[in-house]
Parts: sequence; structure tokens; C-alpha cells
Amino acid sequence: MNSRLAILVSGRGSNLQALIDAIAGSQLHAEIVGVFSDKPGAAALQRVPAPLRWAADARQFPNRMEFDRCLADAISVAEPDWVICAGYMRILGVDFIRRFAGRLLNIHPSLLPKYRGLHTHARAIEAGDTEHGASVHFVTEELDAGAVIAQATIPVIAGDTPDDLAVRLLPQEHRLLTAVAQLAVAGRLAERDGNVEIDGHRLFQPLRLDCEGNFPLRPASGA
Ligand code: GAR
Repeated sequence: MNSRLAILVSGRGSNLQALIDAIAGSQLHAEIVGVFSDKPGAAALQRVPAPLRWAADARQFPNRMEFDRCLADAISVAEPDWVICAGYMRILGVDFIRRFAGRLLNIHPSLLPKYRGLHTHARAIEAGDTEHGASVHFVTEELDAGAVIAQATIPVIAGDTPDDLAVRLLPQEHRLLTAVAQLAVAGRLAERDGNVEIDGHRLFQPLRLDCEGNFPLRPASGA
């Protein structure tokens, strides 16, 4: 049976679309069981049929905890195996994170641990970095600080603007998120004691995508 994915979004949803396309193309053996947003107007929601959409305006709730509880309850109804933040821009509270710990992933547009939080492209340029990229990590209680599973990189070219970096990085994000999601749904990915495990072995540094969009890993046993 296919693994069940819940996807959290706040905006355009190009990473969500990459997952949808990978499922349609049989590169990702999963089923999207719900797309959840803190922004009822998020374009991402339109990428899936209405019955799969859930959204609530976080500003209508008295506090973060109340919104998070409502969101977490809605996600639980969909019974996902994995919860993936794909451009979800609202900070998740501790209770939410604990409820889905170990199966909650996020894609972040920097080479973590560099540039947690916002404006990652501008910060990479300001720092004079020659390489930039994106990371997929387990979500833990500290913002963008959970164990990093995998990264994709791009060069920073003289004269690049933050928008240039964002545009160049996005296709890499799509490949990265799809590849990590496939590891997850294949049962090859786990978090133990704050570390990433692949096939039961601790990962000492993040995986990097090769030029074909794969990780340099042995096929899963039985594959
Ligand atoms: C992506 O670049 C993603 O890495 C970033 O938001 C964008 C969403 O694009 N996420 C974060 O900054 C999370 N801190 P999308 O809506 O087209 O997938």
C-alpha cells in the first residue's frame, strides 16, 4: 500500500506540484491524503482536488497553540504516515511538533545550519558565499535546527540577486524534496536521538543529490 503524505503549504506550491508530478510519474510511491494551509487563499491549494484541501486563517485564532491544535487534528483525520512542510511559512509550536515527531519534514532554502529563518538568498549573497542550496530536515522544536537529511547545491555567480538564486534553486528543491520523500515512503528514513538514519545506519553528513537527481546510496534491500 502506498504511504500517505500530508503536505503543509502557505504560498505558490511548486514543491507540492513536484510531489504530485513525481507520484503521477511513478518516481514517488505515495498518495497525498491532504494539503493543509494557514492561508485560505494560498495558490498551492488549487493544485489538489477540493476534498483534499484544508485551510484556516491563523489570524482568526486566539493564539498559536489553538491554531496548531486545529491544524494537527485535521491532519490526524487524514492519517498520514509523513507530514511534509513544503513552503509552509508559519512557525510550528512545540505541541504540534511533538505530535508528529519523527515523521515531520521541512524543506528550507539554505545549506543548513547556515541561514535559518528568512531571507536566505540575500544572506548568502551578503556573506559572499560561492555556493548556496536547499536542505530537507526533520522538524524539531528549534526553528530549522533539526537533523539535516539531504541537500542540493547551486553556485552563486557574481552579480546574482536574491531572485536569481531563488529561481536557480527552485528546480533543485523540487528534485531534493521528491528524492527525500521517496526515501521516507520506502521506509528507509528515520530519526533516532536527533540523528538521521538511512536503512538503519546513522548518517554523518547530509546526502547530496547526484546529477541525475539521485542519492549516492545502494538500492534498498529487495529493490
Ligand atoms: C521554497 O523555496 C521553500 O524552500 C521555502 O518556501 C518556498 C516555497 O515555494 N520554504 C521556506 O522558506 C521555509 N522556511 P513553493 O510554494 O513554490 O513550494
